[in-house]
Amino acid sequence: MKEKVEVIKTSLDSDLNSVTSLNDLGQLKAKYLGKKGLVTLLTSNMKDLSIEERKEVGKIANEIREEVNSKLTNKEEELKNKELNDKLEKESIDISLPSKKIKRGSRHPFNRIVEDVEDFFVSMGYDVVDGPELETDENCFRLLNLPDGHPARDTQDTFYIDEEYLLRTQTSSVQAREMQANKEKTPIRMICPGKVYRRDEDATHSHQFGQVEGLVIDKNISLADLKGTLELFAKKMLGENTKVRFRPSYFPFTEPSVEVDVSCFKCGGKGCSLCKQTGWIEVLGAGMVHPNVLRMGGYDPEVWTGFAFGTGLDRFAMFRYAIPDIRYLYTNDIRFLEQFDRKDEENEIK
Ligand code: DAH
Repeated sequence: MKEKVEVIKTSLDSDLNSVTSLNDLGQLKAKYLGKKGLVTLLTSNMKDLSIEERKEVGKIANEIREEVNSKLTNKEEELKNKELNDKLEKESIDISLPSKKIKRGSRHPFNRIVEDVEDFFVSMGYDVVDGPELETDENCFRLLNLPDGHPARDTQDTFYIDEEYLLRTQTSSVQAREMQANKEKTPIRMICPGKVYRRDEDATHSHQFGQVEGLVIDKNISLADLKGTLELFAKKMLGENTKVRFRPSYFPFTEPSVEVDVSCFKCGGKGCSLCKQTGWIEVLGAGMVHPNVLRMGGYDPEVWTGFAFGTGLDRFAMFRYAIPDIRYLYTNDIRFLEQFDRKDEENEIK
């Protein structure tokens, strides 16, 4: 018996020395500890032995079983570690290799303008609201004091879908929506940036372009509030030295109405090609909300007053980035968009 045990021990040691994979180790396990394994066989003739002998053989067999087991487990651990290390070595990353250049996009010049406009008005306590581009004639015209047949309708070349539906020609439609939606008739302070559509196309007009509408309704709102607001707005968008001037004008939804000019940010007002030597650039339409518009929106004009303004967003992008053709803003030509990388955000007029 002792001899057998010694044979097992030496054979195990040499087997363990030559084993190199976990798979082979599994086979060794079977060779020694399996049903017909060498260690198992040591006790195969137990029933033929006396009680004394059984005790003796059982003890030796247990000891050798334990020894074999622990050696196999140690080897298993060793092989597992080795496998992991090999794997790590193989998969190691060479951090000195130059990486593939990732092409980064940039914010679209139009969106930069929208974000600046929103930032400014949100800081003044306005809500930013949305309205549908497919609009009713009612919201786009009638509720804004432009009844059927009104001559001013001709100035907005409208895409009609049918008798009642159209693609909105102005974000002013959202004025009508907001007034109706405000059931409690509380003060309103909102802007609505969005797309509008007109049957028009050349270097400075696109069939689709962006506008932002502003509407304030409260008690005791005056033209001075409008002017103060637009002055701050113009400075934010075009630079601290920008001056603002109001010229009398006409819009059906405001009374009085004004057209708003800003001092030319290119020549500072001296006169240049951009401002056509006048020193001023027209940027906005605005005025005090017409009593009819207030009334149709459910606000009593004896109690409430308000101002409204509307301006094209594309023009601001064209001014700021000296973009010569409005269509560049909509064709998504990568050669155009690439020019607006992050660097020039620092050079924006703020
Ligand atoms: N909706 C006008 C347009 O598209 C712009 C405008 C003018 C909006 C005066 C206003 C306003 O709110 O008061 O030409």
